[in-house]
Amino acid sequence: MKISVSAAGSTRPAAELLVVPVLEGGEQDAAFRMLDEALGGHLSTLLARGDAKHGFGETTLVFPANGAGGAERVLLVGLAKGAEVTAERLRRAAGAAAKQAAKSRVASLAFALPASALPVAEAARAVAEGLVLGAYDFRELKSQPEDKPAPVALEEAIIVLPADADEGAAAEGARVGEIIARAENVARQLGNLPGNVATPTYLGETAERIGRERGLTVTVLGPEELRAEGLNALLAVSQGSEQEPRLIIMEHRGGAEGQKPLVLVGKGLTFDAGGISIKPAAGMEDMKFDMCGGAGTLAAMQAIAELGLPINVIGVVPSSENLLGGGAMKPGDIVRAHGGKTIEIVNTDAEGRLILVDAISYAKRFDPLAMLDAATLTGACVVALGNTATGVMGNDEGLVQEIIRAGEATGERCWQLPMFDDYRELIKSDYADIKNSGGRAAGTITAGWFLREFVGEWPWVHLDVAGTAYGDGKIPYLTKGASGVPTRIFVQWVMDRAAAGGGTAAA
Ligand code: BES
Ligand code: MN
Ligand code: ZN
Repeated sequence: MKISVSAAGSTRPAAELLVVPVLEGGEQDAAFRMLDEALGGHLSTLLARGDAKHGFGETTLVFPANGAGGAERVLLVGLAKGAEVTAERLRRAAGAAAKQAAKSRVASLAFALPASALPVAEAARAVAEGLVLGAYDFRELKSQPEDKPAPVALEEAIIVLPADADEGAAAEGARVGEIIARAENVARQLGNLPGNVATPTYLGETAERIGRERGLTVTVLGPEELRAEGLNALLAVSQGSEQEPRLIIMEHRGGAEGQKPLVLVGKGLTFDAGGISIKPAAGMEDMKFDMCGGAGTLAAMQAIAELGLPINVIGVVPSSENLLGGGAMKPGDIVRAHGGKTIEIVNTDAEGRLILVDAISYAKRFDPLAMLDAATLTGACVVALGNTATGVMGNDEGLVQEIIRAGEATGERCWQLPMFDDYRELIKSDYADIKNSGGRAAGTITAGWFLREFVGEWPWVHLDVAGTAYGDGKIPYLTKGASGVPTRIFVQWVMDRAAAGGGTAAA
């Protein structure tokens, strides 16, 4: 999608769909008033009568007679109550607009960006993100019905700026948003692809392709190398499957030589049947999404490389299936993880933490300045926070707050859970250094503590994205399936760190 910005009041852009945000209560934006005037007050009449909705996320399509006002189609999108325009509200409005463009089968649209307190670069970025995300649909595995025309792709979008806005800043914001959202769609695509397509091998090949195209150094370790390096916890999980495991390492060296890197780790479990501690059948198909943390890591690395961020960043994705083959790990098995600690596997369905700790331990060789990991780790997190927020824990309060801020800025909201020492008691083992499940109580926190035992003193934050990495698609810029979480939050954190000089936390 080609996204450009255009100054306010310049000749009306040639687009098949003109998108005009409307506010609920208060005075409408200048773009609305101008168009309303050109249409003889038609739009305000529609609003006053209640025929056009202006509630959050609601849309109304209007066909001005004979293209009056210079527009064939006008889409009114409800933005917000009162005058407060936030990035997330713009992102959602733009998502709704992109979906209407698909329904209307048009290839171009213009989006009238309302004046607001939001810096124009942030506003344009949010609109670009919403448009690119909203235009994504997972349809490659569905046959095109012969009696229906092929879908029309949204090829061109023009963001029409409010009066006196800085065009250069807006264009830069739109460029950043387009890059991030396009990467995020890669994460969504990987998430939506079924387990028989998106295997560990496929994830590795995808990482290699991204690396070739964007200039990242990519290393993919297979079973032999994993054995030689002692990633026995990852190997234990993959034992029950015919698919070979992978450890994917993607390096972006945008910073000074010798600058300690940031490390992003993502769970790449391409299908989680639970292993011998098998899951119930109902809903098990959703466990193809168990690699969304890994997909977000690949996608974030793509965006970081494409943005050319002046900082060193390394993405690490352990990838495996969790099945029940004859060689599968069994409850009671004890494995020696990378780094030497022994783990009693009391529940083979608590496999994510097993593959993650090997990856985290392996990543210490890069001498990371700080480490983030994202994983669809616990059903308990979905119970606690639903599909609305990502659970966050860490061993460094400053870093936790950085992540929470990055979440607010990007619309990928986070909520911190406590790491009281008491929880650590629940994963003590009678037979090994630690066990991989503490049972039902505080399931998300004990999983976090399990990871922390292997992290040690390295600054680290864990994101449990079990509830946020995929969903019903009710958010206007999303569709049912993978959401792209944690792509935006990962990229935002790295951007903030790069802006702060690469070494320290953003203020
Ligand atoms: N991948 C699941 C977690 C999950 C559940 C993600 C639901 C998304 C939706 C993870 O591997 C898992 O099975 N966790 C167990 C841990 C338990 C056995 C300690 C869980 O949450 O039940
Ligand atoms: Mn599991
Ligand atoms: Zn899992």
